[in-house]
Amino acid sequence: MAGARKFKVCSESELAEGSVRTLKIFARQIAVYKIGGAIHAMDGLCKHMNAPLATTGKIKGTKLICSWHGWEYDILTGECLNHSGIALRHYPVIIENGEIFVEFELNT
Ligand code: FES
Repeated sequence: MAGARKFKVCSESELAEGSVRTLKIFARQIAVYKIGGAIHAMDGLCKHMNAPLATTGKIKGTKLICSWHGWEYDILTGECLNHSGIALRHYPVIIENGEIFVEFELNT
């Protein structure tokens, strides 16, 4: 990926199953979840009215529910489950030497 850089989130041991960490890359807030043993990174603000999903969202299985007005997202894909055609952007996750990184294209 041209122009992509990786940004450290935390070590693998610091992200428990079913939990979330946040990462701010310039103006973008990214939420990183561990669900079913896999790590997923996606935009951290709700597509409805920008609620910070890492702090206001509730995780139910692979579903993330925004507590402000109830929009639901599939953590595995970022897709909004109750508003078709809307999705949170997903980012590649890299694990190196026990550390979690998110790959981010700087010019996007
Ligand atoms: S801000 Fe998330 S549902 Fe309204």
